[in-house]
Amino acid sequence: MQDTLELHVHRHLVSRIVVGRDAWDRFLRRLTAEPTPTAVVTHPSIVETFSDLAATVRHQPGVHLLTWPEGETAKSWDSLRDLLHEMFRLGLRRDARLVAWGGGVLGDLVGLAAALYMRGIALWHVPTTLTAQTDSAIGGKTAVDTPFGKNLVGAFYPAEFVWADPRFLTTLPEAAFRDGMGEVIKYAFLIGEPFLSWLEAHSPDLRRRDPDALETMVRTCAAYKVQVVQADEQDRGVRQWLNLGHTVGHALEAMVDYRGLTHGEAVLWGLVVEGRIARRRTGLAAAHLDRLHRLIDAWGGLRPLPVWDEARFWQALELDKKQRHGTTGFRIPLLVEPGRVEVVEDVSPDLLRQALAEVGLGPMAPQYSASTMSRRRPGKRSSQARRSARS
Ligand SMILES: NC(=O)c1ccc[n+]([C@@H]2O[C@H](COP(=O)([O-])OP(=O)(O)OC[C@H]3O[C@@H](n4cnc5c(N)ncnc54)[C@H](O)[C@@H]3O)[C@@H](O)[C@H]2O)c1
Ligand SMILES: [Zn+2]
Repeated sequence: MQDTLELHVHRHLVSRIVVGRDAWDRFLRRLTAEPTPTAVVTHPSIVETFSDLAATVRHQPGVHLLTWPEGETAKSWDSLRDLLHEMFRLGLRRDARLVAWGGGVLGDLVGLAAALYMRGIALWHVPTTLTAQTDSAIGGKTAVDTPFGKNLVGAFYPAEFVWADPRFLTTLPEAAFRDGMGEVIKYAFLIGEPFLSWLEAHSPDLRRRDPDALETMVRTCAAYKVQVVQADEQDRGVRQWLNLGHTVGHALEAMVDYRGLTHGEAVLWGLVVEGRIARRRTGLAAAHLDRLHRLIDAWGGLRPLPVWDEARFWQALELDKKQRHGTTGFRIPLLVEPGRVEVVEDVSPDLLRQALAEVGLGPMAPQYSASTMSRRRPGKRSSQARRSARS
């Protein structure tokens, strides 16, 4: 298989995405071959974990290594302003290049800084999380969060190079790896065969971070994302397929205030709820839904939500930036079968309510009281919740 993916938009090459266990070395070679003033932005924990690599970067002429706070709170207006000011302090000019060496938080923030600095300077990504390698570093979406919601301010600004080295994934904490698997399971159903069967068979290898398995997984997901983004750079057509599981998933994340539920977990909940809707609207076969549940179970199952807040769930759904104004139903990409999606424009609130109840979510579900707020500690799912989610 070709090891450098090329992303063309309107027939122009915009990104080169290098996936493989030599990606870091190739990144370094390119960095030194083209001596351009460069700021490599990363987190202190990455510098600590990969101290040798950080030292190498630091010693390159013209390269500044900036360490930036981690966590979603670093994807803020203040953080963006501080980063831009830091770049001015370093004296970077229009010919400079900015490198994001970290996960999706850093990639989104640094990507937006690159888009804004002197109206745009060169951007490279060195993604180090599963989410970043398979998803966020590819396609050019950059953003910061605002008090009004996540990712509401941003720009489309594709990186010139993405250097995705799956070796970084071997040190990723278990929770972050599992979180990334939520998106990978989504990809498996979007891509269909043979990747879906491959993922089912190789989940044990991936759990022990087998290098070959990691590389195949990242390469397959990255290639799929490139293909979809290329077909639809501005997020209006087939790119909506990537939103599978996200309409409900995003509303759940907003409902719990982004606490006690990771994005990957929210996507998995979204996939099972939307799978129930797909049974009725696109004729998704029960066997495919069972397969989805088995794969989710292989990765630890669905964790109960920390809270159910009926009003906030529906409010979040209405505010979803992908919903159009003035329509009665919700627009949701739904699976027809593995490898095939249909964007259904008018999913009724009643059908959505029914699907939620079937997986044990909503006021009708036994683990959340009929009142709008019932708190429960996240933890292992009860067998009852597991049964109701699979029925
Ligand atoms: N732009 C897009 O298209 C897009 C797509 C999906 C997600 N996102 C965004 O991505 C963000 C989530 O990104 P994430 O899941 O990568 O989380 P993250 O960026 O917060 O990284 C997770 C943590 O893992 C640490 N870490 C990173 N790599 C490591 C490694 N190799 N070894 C050990 N520790 C490591 C980091 O220091 C960080 O604290 C969200 O803000 C989300 O909105 C953007
Ligand atoms: Zn996602």
